[in-house]
Amino acid sequence: MSQPTVTLTIDGRTVTVPRGTTVYQAARAAGVEIPIFCYHDRMPPLGACRMCLVKVEKMPRLQTSCTLEAADGMVVSTTAPEVVAGQRAILEFLLINHPLDCPICDKGGECPLQDQTVRFGPGRSRFVEAKRDFAKPVSLGPVLVLDRERCILCWRCVRFGEIVAGDDALKGFERGFRSEINTPFTVPTQSKFIGNTIAICPVGALTARPYRFVARPWDNRPVPGACTLCGVGCAVEFDVRDGRVVRVRAREEPAVNDIWLCDLGFFGHAAVSHPDRLRTPLVRRDGLLVEASWDEALDVVASRLRAAAPGRVAVLGGARLTTEDAYVAVRFFRGVVGTPHLDHRVDAAPGGASLLVGWGMRRPIADLDRADVVVLVGCDLTEEYPVLWLRCKRAVDRGAAVIAVTPRRLEIGRFVRAHLVHRFGDGARVLDALLAGTDSPPAGVDPAALAAAVEAIRGARSPVVMVGRLALEAPDGVEILRRVRDLAARWGVPVDVLRGKGNARGAALAGLLPDAGPGGRPLDEVREVLRSAWGSAASAEVGWTAPEIVERAARGEVEVLFALGADPASEVPDRSRWSDARRRVSLLVAVDAFLSPTARAADVVLPALMAPEKDGTVCGLDGRVHRLHAAVPGPGAAWAEATIFSALADRLGRVLVYSGWEEIFDEMRAFAPSLAVGERIPPPPDRPLPEPAPQEAPAGDGFVLIPGDVLFDRGAVTSRSPAIAELAGEPWALLHPADASRLGVADGDPVVLRGERGEAAVRARVAPDILPGQVFLPRGFDEAPANALADGIRPARVRIIPLAAGGSGGRP
Ligand code: SF4
Ligand code: FES
Repeated sequence: MSQPTVTLTIDGRTVTVPRGTTVYQAARAAGVEIPIFCYHDRMPPLGACRMCLVKVEKMPRLQTSCTLEAADGMVVSTTAPEVVAGQRAILEFLLINHPLDCPICDKGGECPLQDQTVRFGPGRSRFVEAKRDFAKPVSLGPVLVLDRERCILCWRCVRFGEIVAGDDALKGFERGFRSEINTPFTVPTQSKFIGNTIAICPVGALTARPYRFVARPWDNRPVPGACTLCGVGCAVEFDVRDGRVVRVRAREEPAVNDIWLCDLGFFGHAAVSHPDRLRTPLVRRDGLLVEASWDEALDVVASRLRAAAPGRVAVLGGARLTTEDAYVAVRFFRGVVGTPHLDHRVDAAPGGASLLVGWGMRRPIADLDRADVVVLVGCDLTEEYPVLWLRCKRAVDRGAAVIAVTPRRLEIGRFVRAHLVHRFGDGARVLDALLAGTDSPPAGVDPAALAAAVEAIRGARSPVVMVGRLALEAPDGVEILRRVRDLAARWGVPVDVLRGKGNARGAALAGLLPDAGPGGRPLDEVREVLRSAWGSAASAEVGWTAPEIVERAARGEVEVLFALGADPASEVPDRSRWSDARRRVSLLVAVDAFLSPTARAADVVLPALMAPEKDGTVCGLDGRVHRLHAAVPGPGAAWAEATIFSALADRLGRVLVYSGWEEIFDEMRAFAPSLAVGERIPPPPDRPLPEPAPQEAPAGDGFVLIPGDVLFDRGAVTSRSPAIAELAGEPWALLHPADASRLGVADGDPVVLRGERGEAAVRARVAPDILPGQVFLPRGFDEAPANALADGIRPARVRIIPLAAGGSGGRP
C-alpha cells in the first residue's frame, strides 16, 4: 500500500510529500531554504527559536514551519514581507545580547547565526543598550567549555542528551532572560558523547577545550577517514592545519555512525601529534635502548630471523594496522619467514570463549535501529562500542526491549527493560533460567527482571543477540556462548560478537590468525591460492593462538617475537606469564608508535605510522571496509608496517614490494573476491564449541575480580591524548556499598587490590552496580594494570586494603 501524501505549494513550487511531513521538511524537499536554529533533523521539532517563520494562506499569524504539518492545498510563502520582517526581528532580538565576539569565537566562519544574519538579518540593530555580560568561560567538564553570553537558548545540546544519547548530560536552569545551560548539579559532564553537542550548537556557546583558539575553519584542510579506536569504524573528518590533526568531526555515514561520534573518536586522535611519538628505530645495546638507523635496526632483526628456525618466530598483534599493512605482515611471516604463529587476539584469555568465535557483528550496524528485542550478554555498549548505543537507543525509542545479562549494571540502565545483573561466573545459569522461562534465577539476580526478560523474548520478531567480552572471558564463558547460540538459534538469527578493538576485523581479514588465511578463510580452503601467490614454501599450517604463543615463549620455544602494533605487557591477560615469555625470547621486536610497556622491554623498537598518517582501508565491527587517507605526515623516520616488512623481506632475499595500498588491496581479492570499499566482507564462520568443562572456582579468598573494558583509560596511546587521559582520571575500582561500608571505604578513597600475583593502587568508586563480594577493575590503566592481578585462566580473587584512616578488613 502506498503511503498517503499531501501536495502543497511553497513559494510557487508545488511539492508532494508523505503525510506527516512538516512544512520545513517539505520546503527542503522543494529546494527552498528556511533558516532554523532550534530544529535539528535528528530530533523532534521543538518550536523554541521562531527563526523558521513562514506565511500560510488562510492562517492568521506567521507559523513556525518546523512544527507545522504540511497539509493538502497549503499555500506557503517564505518570502512574504511579513516573513522577512519576522526573520529580521528574530535575528535582531537574538543579537541584542549575543556578544559579537566573532573574531575570536571558534565558531566564526562556520556559525549558523553568522550565516543567517548575513542572509536574513536586518543589517543594523535598534538596540544600543549594554549587552548581557557573564563571567567566562565556564568549564563544564574536561572537554567542554561554555560561553554563556553566546548561547541563544535553542536547547539542541540539552535535547541531544535527552533524546539521542539518553545521558541527560546538560540541563537548562533559571527562566527567561536568566536562562542558562549547565550540567545537572554543576558537576563535570557525565557523558561519552558530549562532542556532539559542540558540533550541533548553532553558535559558539559550546566549544571544545582542546580546539579553543587553535584554528579558523578556513585554515583547516578536511581529510575524510575512519576512526580506528574502539572498533566500530565511524566515519570522521580530520581537520588538518600545518600538518597536524587539530580537530576531528563526524562525517555523515548512515550505515555506521549516522552523524554522531563518541568522545573517544572526537578527542582520542590527539595522540597522533604527541611529542612522545617514536621517531627513529631503537636498538638495545649494553642493556639500553639507543637510537639507530633503519639499516642498523633492520639488519639486527633480519640476521636473527635468518638464524632462527621458522617455527620459532611468532607475531602478536596487528589490530592497530591498516588491513593492507596487516596483509603484508601476514605475507611476510607466512610467505617469507615461513611461520604460522600469528595472532592479533593478544588480549584473549587462554581457554576462554574469545578464541572459539569469529570476532565482529554478523549483520549491518544499522539493523540495530529496527530490532524489537536487543539481548546484550556481557556487552557494555557505552564503554566498549559507544556509537552502537546511539543506534540501540533509536530502537528503544521505537519500543524495543533491551535485556542485559551482565555482571556490572550498565549506565544505560534506565532504558533496559530487564537488567539481569549477576555474579561473575553465573551468566550461563542466568541464561539457562531465561531459556527455560523459569522464575528462579541464581542468587542475587532480580526475579522480576527475569520475568520481564522471559516475557520480552517471547514476543520477539526482529531480535538482535550480542555477546561481549565480559561474557566471553568470564569463568563460564564457553557455557554462556553455548546458551547465547541456543537463544539465537530459536529465532534463527546470528550472534553478533562484540569483540576486538581498532581494526581487529581487518587484521582477521588480512589473515593475522593462526588458523585462517587471508579473507579469514580456513587454511584448507586457501592453501592452494596461498602457495601459488606467495611461493611453495609459504606456511599454510595451523599455528599457535596468542595465548599459546605467550605460553610457548615462556617455555623457551620462541626465539624471535614481534609485538606488532600491540602492547602484550598490558594486553595479555596474565602479565606475569608475559614477563616469563619476555625473559625467554631472545629477540623481542616492538613495532609501535609509542614506547609502550612492551616496547620499553624490547630489543629492537621500530617506529610505526598511525592510522591518520596512512592510505589504505580498515574494517569496522560489522565488516564494512572504510577508506583511510593520509591526513598528516608521520613523525621523524616512522614507517608504515608494509614498508618495514618489504625492507625485511629484501634482506631475506625476497621481493615483497607494492606500489601502494591499492595493489595490496587488489591482491587480497584473490582470497576475498567480494572485497570492496564501502561493502561488508562476509562474516567470520561460526565454529563448533567443545564439550562442557567443569568451571574452576576462583582461587584464594577475597573479592572476586571482574576485569572490564572502559571507554576512557590510560594506556600507551590513550594517555597521550590529554583530553582522554583527563576523562579517564585516576585508576579506579568499583565496590558494592555494603562491602565498602564493612571495609570502612568511602567513595573516592584510595585502596589497594592485592591478588596472589600482584597489586594495584586505585580509587574506590562505591555504587550498587555489581553484586556484593566482587570488585570491578577497569583494564587499560598502565598505573594499575588489571592483568597484574589475574592469571587469565582462573577467575581471580583479591583482597581490598583501604589506605585511608579507619579502613579495615580486606575479605568480603
Ligand atoms: Fe543551543 Fe548552543 Fe545554547 Fe546549547 S549552548 S542551548 S546548543 S546555543
Ligand atoms: Fe523552528 Fe526553531 S527552527 S522554531
